[in-house]
Amino acid sequence: MPVLLDGLERLEYRGYDSAGVAVVSAGEGLQIQKCKGRLRSLRDKLDSLPPLTGTTGIGHTRWATHGEPNDVNSHPHVSQNGRVAIVHNGIIENYAEIKQFLLQQGVRFRSDTDSEVVAQLLEYCFDGCGDILDAVYAVLERLEGAYALGILCADRPDVLIAARKDAPLLLGYGDGENFIASDATAIIRHTRRVAYMEDGEVAVLTADSAAVFDAYRRPVEKQIHTIDWDVSAAEKGGYAHFMFKEIMEQPEALRHTISPRLKDGQITFGELRLADDFLRRMHRIYLVACGSSYHVGMLGKYNLERFLRLPVEVCLASEFRYSDPLVDENTLVVVISQSGETLDSMAALREAKARGGYILSIVNVVGSSIARESDDVLYTWAGPEIAVATTKAYSTQLAVLTMLGLYMARRLGRVEEAEYAAVTAELAVLPEKLEKVLACTDACQYLASLYFNREHVFFIGRNLDYALGLEGSLKLKEISYIHSESYAAGELKHGTISLIEPGTLVVALATYEKLLDKAVSNIVEVKARGAEVVALTTESGRERLEQLATHTLVIPDTHPVLRPNLGVAPLQLLAYYIALHRGCDIDKPRNLAKSVTVE
Ligand code: G6P
Repeated sequence: MPVLLDGLERLEYRGYDSAGVAVVSAGEGLQIQKCKGRLRSLRDKLDSLPPLTGTTGIGHTRWATHGEPNDVNSHPHVSQNGRVAIVHNGIIENYAEIKQFLLQQGVRFRSDTDSEVVAQLLEYCFDGCGDILDAVYAVLERLEGAYALGILCADRPDVLIAARKDAPLLLGYGDGENFIASDATAIIRHTRRVAYMEDGEVAVLTADSAAVFDAYRRPVEKQIHTIDWDVSAAEKGGYAHFMFKEIMEQPEALRHTISPRLKDGQITFGELRLADDFLRRMHRIYLVACGSSYHVGMLGKYNLERFLRLPVEVCLASEFRYSDPLVDENTLVVVISQSGETLDSMAALREAKARGGYILSIVNVVGSSIARESDDVLYTWAGPEIAVATTKAYSTQLAVLTMLGLYMARRLGRVEEAEYAAVTAELAVLPEKLEKVLACTDACQYLASLYFNREHVFFIGRNLDYALGLEGSLKLKEISYIHSESYAAGELKHGTISLIEPGTLVVALATYEKLLDKAVSNIVEVKARGAEVVALTTESGRERLEQLATHTLVIPDTHPVLRPNLGVAPLQLLAYYIALHRGCDIDKPRNLAKSVTVE
């Protein structure tokens, strides 16, 4: 139980609608406890009961898909005669059909979940064949959809079985103990030796053995990887929230991302395989991602088009895969993902690959599915990110994407020497400049105290500032639950300005001197309708903005393409302090999960 509960605590950021555990022992059979709510509710429940005993177990925290978050719908799910218990991530798409079949056989269901059919079908097959592994293979043959499964059987208390298709799952090899987990953070206290399961694989674990089989039940030799980051990287280390810690870690994360790839003013990506021949025929680039990673893509579009003079499309992964995308063997598809496990992004990657595109991914989690299926991968090296709302992963993705654009442009001879030198010089000092920005948390704290009780907040900006506003707005709504939108400032007059009334808070982003006049006009327009304006600008824009805006936040001057890397920090801090004032659960906002492995 301590191993399970500690592991779940480290995975809770992936979903926290409910939590549950099951352990199995020869004497007691299967014992299950689960309940709605956070892990602490489960801990309270367990504390009031006699201890569950056993050394084989599974645990789960849920992000609800089928069936509301309640006690019964929580995992683990148990078969009707209590011989099989399972935990499941993913969605069983043909669950209704399987359920119908089992109901006809007289099986009684307890929950509204898709997952329960796995437990019930397993027991049904086990009753027929008497061997749990045979039963697992029989069940997997009938499942459609995505799954990472952990399976216990009362008749085999020494065994834990795992299976994977389109949902993350790894094995951990210990000394006299073995593990399964959806993320290494859950088991790193016990072992650093892990192997990533592939689709179709089934693992059979005991305390002393870990055998893996493929879809045809042939043994598979797994490659073992050693996790090289320290357990403290995934701990709060004295900070009140992971989010604040991760905001503050951004300069260091950027150093890790940038410095090994910037030598004597030259960008080098030693890890890239990208061939000259492909680069020369590349005629289009797609940037594909979800959530904040998509916002990185929005910024990337401006910067990559500027450097490469090639059409760059930025596409939400969930839309891309169903849009009959114009991908061919001359298309570069850049998939951006912190977790490397987002199912929509994974599906988009496969769609692009099937159409012949060259897949380059920008990923934070080493060894994740997206990284493994890409032709090339650039890691962001931000370290583990725990808060659901991303900060340091966003910043490092952005730096990598900008560097990639510049690097490709250089190889193609499309960037002027002066521009290349100017950006690389600023990249080298970006972490220090960001440190300066982060040293001024007081201003954001003060603004939060003024504006935390607003119902609506609007972000406006043009070009890179518009794309940056999208992220600022998302951060705010994710963690503070304030309704917030980001608009291209030029579009205001075409409808949105009707929402501005006396006292409305508008965050005006004006870090781009080429468009400063336009930004100023838009600020004047919203002020004329009574808006209160918080402006974000650079040192060179300070004087003009201070005369005009209600409050002004200032970032150091840097090359225009890198400004969002500095500008995002005050927006993250503003969202953080506003959420703090409102008493929100900052690291685990309602209804969200960090790693979204369902469609
Ligand atoms: C979830 C998270 C977001 C994240 C998005 C994409 O919705 O809450 O913070 O931006 O997934 O995740 P990825 O891991 O693919 O970057």
